[in-house]
Amino acid sequence: MKKPTYYITTPIYYSSGSFHLGHCYTTVICDAIARFKRMDGFDVFYLTGTDEHGQKVQQKAEAAGVTPKQYVDKLYEQIVELWKTLGISYDKFIRTTDDYHEQTVQKIYEKLLAQDDIYKSTYEGWYCTPCESFWTESQLVDGKCPDCGREVKLQKEESYFFRLGKYQDRLIKFYEQNPEFISPKSRMNEMINNFIKPGLKDLCISRTTFDWGIKLPFDEKHVAYVWIDALANYISALGYLQDDCSLFDKFWPADLHMVGKEIVRFHTIIWPALLMALDLPLPKKVYGHGWLLFGNDKMSKSKGNVVDPFVLCGRYGRDVIRYYLLREIPFGSDGVYTNEALIARTNADLVNDLGNLVSRTTAMITQYFGGIVPQPAAYTDLDKELIALCEGTLQRVRADMESLSAPDALADIFKIVQRANKYIDDTTPWTLNKNGDKQRLETVLYVLAECIRFAATLLEPFVPDTSEKIFGKLGLKLPADFGELDRFGRIGEGVVVNKGDNLFNRIDAEKELKELAKLAETDKPDKQTESDAPQITIDDFAKVKLVTARVLSCEKVAKSDKLLVFKLQVGNEVRQVVSGIAQYYEPSYMVGKTVVLVSNLKSAKIRGVESNGMILCAADGKRVVFVTPEQDVDSGKEVR
Ligand code: MSP
Repeated sequence: MKKPTYYITTPIYYSSGSFHLGHCYTTVICDAIARFKRMDGFDVFYLTGTDEHGQKVQQKAEAAGVTPKQYVDKLYEQIVELWKTLGISYDKFIRTTDDYHEQTVQKIYEKLLAQDDIYKSTYEGWYCTPCESFWTESQLVDGKCPDCGREVKLQKEESYFFRLGKYQDRLIKFYEQNPEFISPKSRMNEMINNFIKPGLKDLCISRTTFDWGIKLPFDEKHVAYVWIDALANYISALGYLQDDCSLFDKFWPADLHMVGKEIVRFHTIIWPALLMALDLPLPKKVYGHGWLLFGNDKMSKSKGNVVDPFVLCGRYGRDVIRYYLLREIPFGSDGVYTNEALIARTNADLVNDLGNLVSRTTAMITQYFGGIVPQPAAYTDLDKELIALCEGTLQRVRADMESLSAPDALADIFKIVQRANKYIDDTTPWTLNKNGDKQRLETVLYVLAECIRFAATLLEPFVPDTSEKIFGKLGLKLPADFGELDRFGRIGEGVVVNKGDNLFNRIDAEKELKELAKLAETDKPDKQTESDAPQITIDDFAKVKLVTARVLSCEKVAKSDKLLVFKLQVGNEVRQVVSGIAQYYEPSYMVGKTVVLVSNLKSAKIRGVESNGMILCAADGKRVVFVTPEQDVDSGKEVR
């Protein structure tokens, strides 16, 4: 029988910074959904990728002194490594610099132009480069980007526009007829009240002030607006407008675009309007999940509050991280990340509940039956209650996953685990053994082995390594689907368990929290080198005059532990400069050295001593060292 299809996508990730645990949230949730659907008999296509064009990437590449392509290649490698580390089972990874994608985007623009859905004009308004978003004056909050709170720039340039306004009524009608399209419901109201009701304006969809993008085939001065380029990935990845469009025919429209709440707007207004213009069916659902917060703030590089997923996976294993994200963060709303909650969740659910159940059961089967899973005799009412729980769980989990709630699904699966642990306490197999009640002991241990089989099968989408390990311990093979959950009692004769190591080790909270605090301290991003630091133009940079200077004399400033006063030769001039490096350098050591001076800094009095400039130094938290040219250079020479 032909399987039903399921097409699920994550947003494609910006290739303009490094990745943190917040980024992993969307991908891990989608992975659990994709794996669940596969196990539940669907033919799944799970797409993820990278969003590699745009002004932000171009600026970051320039700042790093590499080409944009070199820049995005490095980030591509990083993200592929991250998804490997987290066990993400995507079916395709798309890069917006892939040829086929670029060609599809060009064909889309041509089609839109031919049918008069786009026209040339001039864009004048505000632009947020980190979000790659256009804003009108009235949409700004305190003059800043309403999404990320960062500076916006006034932009005026020749652009092509998409007739977005033309689709306003059709969009409203579509929302009315498909009330599930934007989920959760609160986001639908937000879209209608904040964006649709004030009136949709035509959208600027090309840029001319930089060139890192897909060139418009009919006007090569223009590159595609990065959001149009990015959104098109969902269809270009399937072969839309390409020679082989069999995947497109099979999987489009998407069943689910999972996105963070800040980009719901692009996916529920611009994207469906564009699809309407292309005369294509619309996706079935866009789900805007909440953010992973750190304290009160969104976890983000620019806020310097990121948690490194590589570090966490390295310390605890990926399933601990997957479990935490899927179980602890309430789905749809924001959730606060804390090390305390991560440790508490792991110890309570994975170590105590799941780990103990598996180790107690396999240990008893080993001790009482030489490792061979016994066959059951008659089931009691107590057994039947557990059997009913196991047999009914798939249906409950299916309903939870239908509403995309991984926390509920996991809570339902863990009911088996918790109930089975209680069953051990109720039946006390060690007493049955002592009393020689072999038949009952056989049944009890068989029921426990079956409970574990049910739980471990259902856990695969969420913690795949753990499921695999549990099946290994049970002496069975992890099934590829939920077919074998049709009935309790499938473990046949002669199955040999293998107790082996613990599934999870208890984390010593006090010790671990100290370790993590230490790590966070050493990992704190240096604001100066942060890749999300505000960008400056070459003209801004040119305002800072840097020159070489030779130290003629150097003395301590009276009554100060920190300050040194320098006389510097700068070309024909002698300058007095105060610098706070007395703890790091003896004055005599400095004499004769060449330093780099910010020569046009406004003069100031420091501890009553006049200072005309600043000596450049590098600091790593432990030391401060002055910057000097790699080879001998005369004083007064420009540094740039
Ligand atoms: N490139 C765009 C998407 C284009 S899709 C056509 C983009 N990229 S992103 O790298 O900024 O974000 C990728 C995903 O990570 C988004 O779903 C975003 O919401 C998610 N997250 C980034 N930080 C996050 C948290 N702190 N918490 C939860 N998810 C967050 O947007």
